[in-house]
Amino acid sequence: MLTTRPRGTNDILPGEVEKWQYLEELARQVCREYGYGEVRTPVFEHTELFARGVGETTDIVEKEMYTFTDRGDRSITLRPEGTAAAVRAYVENKLYAMPQPIKLFYIGPMFRYDRPQAGRYRQFHQFGVEVFGSDSPAVDAEVIAMAMDIYERIGLKDLELHINSVGCPDCRPILREKLQEHFRPHLANLCPNCQGRFERNPLRILDCKNEKCQNIGRHAPTTLDALCAACDSHFELVKSYLDAVGVQYIVDNRLVRGLDYYTRTAFEIMARDIGAQSSVGGGGRYNGLIEECGGPPTPGIGFALGLERILLTAERQGITFPVTRGPAVFIATVGTEVEKQAFTLLQQLRRQGIAAEKDYLGRSLKAQMKYAGKLDARLVIILGEEEVARGVAVVRDMQAGEQQEVPMGGMVDYIKAKS
Ligand code: HAM
Repeated sequence: MLTTRPRGTNDILPGEVEKWQYLEELARQVCREYGYGEVRTPVFEHTELFARGVGETTDIVEKEMYTFTDRGDRSITLRPEGTAAAVRAYVENKLYAMPQPIKLFYIGPMFRYDRPQAGRYRQFHQFGVEVFGSDSPAVDAEVIAMAMDIYERIGLKDLELHINSVGCPDCRPILREKLQEHFRPHLANLCPNCQGRFERNPLRILDCKNEKCQNIGRHAPTTLDALCAACDSHFELVKSYLDAVGVQYIVDNRLVRGLDYYTRTAFEIMARDIGAQSSVGGGGRYNGLIEECGGPPTPGIGFALGLERILLTAERQGITFPVTRGPAVFIATVGTEVEKQAFTLLQQLRRQGIAAEKDYLGRSLKAQMKYAGKLDARLVIILGEEEVARGVAVVRDMQAGEQQEVPMGGMVDYIKAKS
């Protein structure tokens, strides 16, 4: 146990972490362009926030939360997603009193006690955005287009954008009745979870992974069969805005999503290459959530994408990221006399913003050159006792395989010009 990390978690090591940094920087850049500001909320919140926000009948709240009682006897939960926390921050910090809409983004770890497999972890990372304070269908389209923009800039191919409208509190009772009518004759054959959902939230049955429930639900009425006129026209406008900017989508009237807060627009982005865990991102509108969490009635919409799943898809599609290489310079030494000069030069280079490294294990020159190669250094400065006494050092270009003597006094400028 001491040397094993908990199941469903990952160490992200140098070599791999550069891809994460690249993705995160790309997401931040897109956020700057679309006018989103970063929010950092705690990784744990009061359990009640998720129970109320995400929904009592969801898989997340029913069986996937990391919940514990802290030493002060409070029920605390590691955040399973970012939306409820962003809403809590919006309400608690009275962001509703500022000019609307408020556009926030976050990047960070989320926690779900899920069955781990490729692309599904117990600690995973989301990049997400939330827009508070506008009910305009153009915002729905902007959020969706932004998600697609990010995938495109990463270079992901063959993605499918599924969109649906799940209606609002006006159309829900009609849908609920239609769904109950459909499921009532099959009630005994539904899984125990869905038998409970039949009364509490029959829409959730459509999202059940159980094969029997899926079969029974195959011909159930869909959300689009019950939309009120306002939801219908909102959905039409969202589609027309997406058409206007050339974002392709599939209307998927069975798309429900695993969270209860959605109203009207719901969407999910699927990658074909990563098997069962095909959802690389998803989101939707949640016009009732802010009020549910104690704020003034305020519309909201957002999405989140899973960074692990994006990296997995990129890997399966053979996409590489432009990641930075090893140090620009490695300083090799011959003889102990030059150690202090090497150390001084190392610091001078770093202070000029040049990535530099030296040996700290007393290796032979041959071993140092080999090590510099392993680090992928572009230049090696070789400080030999005899050369240093003459006020020079040899600089070797590792790619070109050429070397030349350079005066020690002009070394930093020489390296700067070369790198
Ligand atoms: P979600 O669909 O539950 O939505 O999660 C969003 C994305 O997180 C998924 O599409 C997937 O890429 C990734 N993901 C989810 N669970 C796991 C897991 N166990 N392991 C690896 N990746 C995972 C939400 O969380 C909503 N808060 C999105 C949202 C924001 N809706 C409105 N605003």
